[in-house]
Amino acid sequence: MCGIVGYVGPRVATPLLIEGLKRLEYRGYDSAGVAIMNGRGVETRKAAGKISTLETIVNGSPVAGTLGIAHTRWATHGAPTTGNAHPHSDCKGHIAVVHNGIIENATALRHWLADNGHTFTSETDTEVLAHLIEASFEGNLEDAVIEALHMVHGTYGIAVISSLDRDKIVVARKGSPLIIGLGDQEYYVASDVSAILEHTRQVVYLDDGDLAVIERTGYRVLDLDAHEMTRAVSQVDWDLDQIERGGFDHFMLKEIFEQPQTIENTMRGRLLEADGTAKLAGLNVTNEELLEIDNIIITACGTSWHSALIGEHMLEEMTRIPVEVEYASEFRYRNPIVTSRTLCIVISQSGETADTLAAMREAKRRGARAIGLVNVVGSTIARESDGGVYLHAGPEIGVASTKAFTSQVVALALLTLRMGRLRALSSVRGAEIIEALHALPGQIREILDRAAEIEQLAEQYIESHNFLYLGRGYNFPVALEGALKLKEISYIHAEGYPAAEMKHGPIALIDSQMPVVFIAPHDSVFDKVVSNVQEVKARGGRVIALTSRDEPQLAGLIDHEIRIPQTIDMLTPVLAAVPLQLLAYYIAVKRGCNVDQPRNLAKSVTVE
Ligand code: G6P
Repeated sequence: MCGIVGYVGPRVATPLLIEGLKRLEYRGYDSAGVAIMNGRGVETRKAAGKISTLETIVNGSPVAGTLGIAHTRWATHGAPTTGNAHPHSDCKGHIAVVHNGIIENATALRHWLADNGHTFTSETDTEVLAHLIEASFEGNLEDAVIEALHMVHGTYGIAVISSLDRDKIVVARKGSPLIIGLGDQEYYVASDVSAILEHTRQVVYLDDGDLAVIERTGYRVLDLDAHEMTRAVSQVDWDLDQIERGGFDHFMLKEIFEQPQTIENTMRGRLLEADGTAKLAGLNVTNEELLEIDNIIITACGTSWHSALIGEHMLEEMTRIPVEVEYASEFRYRNPIVTSRTLCIVISQSGETADTLAAMREAKRRGARAIGLVNVVGSTIARESDGGVYLHAGPEIGVASTKAFTSQVVALALLTLRMGRLRALSSVRGAEIIEALHALPGQIREILDRAAEIEQLAEQYIESHNFLYLGRGYNFPVALEGALKLKEISYIHAEGYPAAEMKHGPIALIDSQMPVVFIAPHDSVFDKVVSNVQEVKARGGRVIALTSRDEPQLAGLIDHEIRIPQTIDMLTPVLAAVPLQLLAYYIAVKRGCNVDQPRNLAKSVTVE
C-alpha cells in the first residue's frame, strides 16, 4: 500500500529519500512527495504519478537539508492528485506529516478543526493529523503528536517533522508497519525494510501503540502516555541483490525464475526423511497440543487465500481434521465458531494485510491458537501469532504474487507432514511426500527451461477478452490463481472454476473466442477432467491444457499443450502454477502492461 521513508543524519536527505521511495514504489504508486527541513523551515515537493515524476520536480527545484520524510501513496481518501499527495501540512506550513492507514473519524475531526479556524487544502484524512498536531503544539513535537493521536480512531503509521522543533522525526504506529533503521551516526525510518536495506540491516520494529522520537544523537521509543519503552534491535537477513531486478525485465519474471531456489529455501533443514515428517521449530507447539486440535480454520486474502484452499485439501486428507478456509475480510465480520481447540492458520506473504491481521486477532481473542505462514520476517502477523512457519522466499517485489504462492504451498505441505504424522499419515507415505518435495526444484527448472514455448503461446492470445481456467481437486485453487494472475496484470477478464461446475453457468460463455485453460495433470481426477475438456471442445472453445504425460484421451481435443513433470497429487499445484504465472506474464508484457505495478493494485494492503 503506501510507503514511508525518513532520514536524519549528516548526509543530504533528498536523494536518500527518493531512492528509498523507489524501492517502495511497488507498494503504492499513484503520487509521492518529500518534506525536508532546511534553513528556512519545512519545504515540500509533491507530484501525482510515479516517483520518477517527483524526482524530476526535485531535480528542477532542489531542496537541501539533512532531515526529511517522504511518501508514496495508494489513494484511499481523495483522488491521486498532487494536492492529495503526502506530506500534508498545517495552516502555517510548520508541520509535515506522512501517513499510511486510515483515520476513521477524519470527517468529524475536519469539521471540528474547521470550526476552530483551520483551513484544509486537500481531501485526505491525513491532513487532519497535521492540523491536530498544530492545535496541540506547545513547543515539543512528540507531546503534540501524542495528544493528536489520542483524538483519532483508525490505523496509522506516521512520520512527522516540524520547523518549530526542528531536529527530530516523530513516528508512531497503530495497524501499519514502521521500522527504525540504525546507521552510522544516522537514522532511517521506513514502512518496509526494502527502503533502507542499502544503508543498514540493523532495525527496530515498532509495535502497535509505539511512538518514537528520532534525533541526530539517538532515538527513544515511548508509549502514548509518554512512558519510555525498550525495543530490541534486529538484524535483517535479506540481501540488496534480492530487491534488485538482476538483469530481468521485471521483478515478476525474476521472482518466477527464483522458484527452484525459493522452494528449496522453504524446505531447507526442515525435512526428516527417516520419520517421514517435518521439523518446524517456529511453530511453538507441542505434539500434545497439536493432538488436542479438533478443527482448523485457514484465513488469508488474495493469492494467499488460494494456497489456503490447497492447504485445506492436504490437511484434511492427511490429518482427518475438519478444515475451513475463510477470506479474512469475511471471517472477521461474522460470528465464527472458534474454540480453544481451534487451530487458526494465517497465511500472508507480507504479514501486514489488514484484514488478515484483524482476522488473526479475532481468532486469538476467541481462544484459538494462531500460527502464521508468513514471508516477511518481523512483520506484524509473524510477531503477533503464537508461532509459525517462515516461507524464506526472500523479498517479493512484483505486485502479483508468484514465488510466495509456491512457497506457501510447500510450507503447507510441511505443516501437513508435521500434523499428519501425529494422526492419519504413515511414515512410508510421509517419506514419499518428502521425496516428491525434494524433486520439486529440479522439476520447476524443467518448466522454466521451456519458458520460450509459453512465450510463443502467449502471442496467440493477446487479443482475447476473456479466459476461463478450470481444474478439479487440488487444482481447482490453481485455476483460481491462474485466472487471478492473468486479470491482475493483463486486465483480461479471467475466471477460475471447478471444472465440472462449468456446466452450471460458465459453459454459456464458451465459443471460438473463449480460451479455456485446463489444469489436467495425470492425477486422481484426470478422467473426470477429460470429460470436461470434451464439453468445451463440443462447443468450439479453444483449449490450452496443462498435462503431465502423453495422454491419448486428449488427442484431438486440445489446441495447445503445456507439459509439466509428474508429481504426487498434493504437489501438482506447485508445478501447475509456474506455467500459468509465465502465461499471464508474457500475455501482459505483450499487451504493453506494467506487470510490476498493475493499475489500482497494491502489494501490501494495509487498509480494510
Ligand atoms: C494484495 C496483493 C496480492 C496478495 C494479497 C494478500 O492483494 O496484490 O498479491 O495475494 O494482497 O497479501 P498477503 O501479503 O497477505 O499475502
